[in-house]
Amino acid sequence: MGLKSVLITDPLDPICEQILGSAGVEVTTKTKLTKEELLKEIKNYEGLIVRSSTQVTEDVINAGEKLKIVGRAGTGVDNIDTDAATRSGVMVMNTPGGNTLSAAEHTCALIVALSKHIAQACASLKSGKWDRKTFLGEELNGKVLGIIGLGRVGREVASRMQAFGMQTIGYDPMISGEVSAQFGVEFKELNEIWKLADYITLHVPLIPQTANLIGSDVIAKCKKGVKIVNVARGGILDEEALFHGLQSGQVGGAALDVFNVEPPTKSDAAYIKELIEHPRLIATPHLGASTAEAQFRVAKDIAEQFIDVAKGRPLVGL
Ligand code: NAD
Ligand code: MLT
Repeated sequence: MGLKSVLITDPLDPICEQILGSAGVEVTTKTKLTKEELLKEIKNYEGLIVRSSTQVTEDVINAGEKLKIVGRAGTGVDNIDTDAATRSGVMVMNTPGGNTLSAAEHTCALIVALSKHIAQACASLKSGKWDRKTFLGEELNGKVLGIIGLGRVGREVASRMQAFGMQTIGYDPMISGEVSAQFGVEFKELNEIWKLADYITLHVPLIPQTANLIGSDVIAKCKKGVKIVNVARGGILDEEALFHGLQSGQVGGAALDVFNVEPPTKSDAAYIKELIEHPRLIATPHLGASTAEAQFRVAKDIAEQFIDVAKGRPLVGL
C-alpha cells in the first residue's frame, strides 16, 4: 500500500525511527501532544505509532484524513479504538511477543517478593527499623501456582517458577491438557484451581469474559491466605473484592502491576487509597514491559511490521 509518513506520539526506542527512516519513510516524533494538537497533527500522516499514553480515540481516527495504519509498540491495544479503525478502513497492529519475557520476569519477581515480604522489609529498614519478626516469609518450593491464561506470558512464568520447585497448574479455554503438559502445567478447571492454589497469577486479556474474573465469590473459594498477582490488566481482578479479602485475611498478599484506573491516584473508588497502602499489597506502576530489551524489541518490531505493510509482505500482529 506504500507508506510515506509516520507520526510517533509516545517515547519509543530510537531503533523505530531508524528502521522507518532507512526505508524512506518520513518520521516525525511529537510526544506529550494535547488531544487538540493530536487532532490537528494527525491529518498530515499515513501512519501513527503509539505506546500507552496516546489515546487513539474515534475522533483521532476520523481526523486522520490520510491515516492508513496505527501501530502499538506493546501487546494490548486498549488505548486504540479498534472498532472505529475498522469502520474507517485503518489497519491496527501490535507487537505481541516483544515484551513477553519482561512481563514474565516481572511476574516472577513479584511472586518471589510476595513470598519473602521483600518490598515491605526494604521500606521498614529504610525507615530506620531492624525488624526481623514481622517479615517471616515462606518458601515457594512445593507451593501450588495457579496460572490463569497459558499464552505467551503464562507459559514463561510457568517454566521460571518450576525452577523454584513450584507445582504449576493452569487453565486456558484455548489450550488442552496435552499441550499444557508440554510446558509442565497440569491443566485444571477454574474451580479446582481456586481450591488448590497457594498463589494465583493472571495472564489473560481484559475482555468481557475475563472482566472481574476474580471477584469476591472466587476469593471466598480460594485457600485462606492465597496470594494473587496481576501483571495482565486492571479489571480482571475486582480491586474492591481484593481489598476486602486482604482486610479479612482470606487473601494473604497481593501484587499488582496494573489497575482499573492508571495511575490509581486518579481513581475515585472509595477503597483505592487503603488498598494501595495495605501492608500486604505490593505494587508497581505498570512496569511489566519496562525493560531496555523489551522496549528495543517492541520499537523494532512495530517499525519492521510497518515496512512489511508498505512493501505488501505478509503481516503479523492483531
Ligand atoms: P496471549 O494472548 O499470548 O495469552 C492470553 C491467553 O489467555 C490466551 O492463551 C487465551 O486463550 C487466554 N484466555 C482468554 N480468555 C481466558 C479465560 N477466560 N480464562 C483463561 N484464559 C483465557 O497474551 P500474553 O501476551 O500472554 O499477555 C497476557 C496479558 O498480559 C494480557 O492482558 C496483556 O495485555 C498483558 N501484558 C501486560 C504487560 C505489562 O506491562 N503489565 C506486558 C505484556 C502483556
Ligand atoms: C502491553 O500491553 O504491551 C503492556 O501492558 C506494556 C505496555 O503498556 O507497554
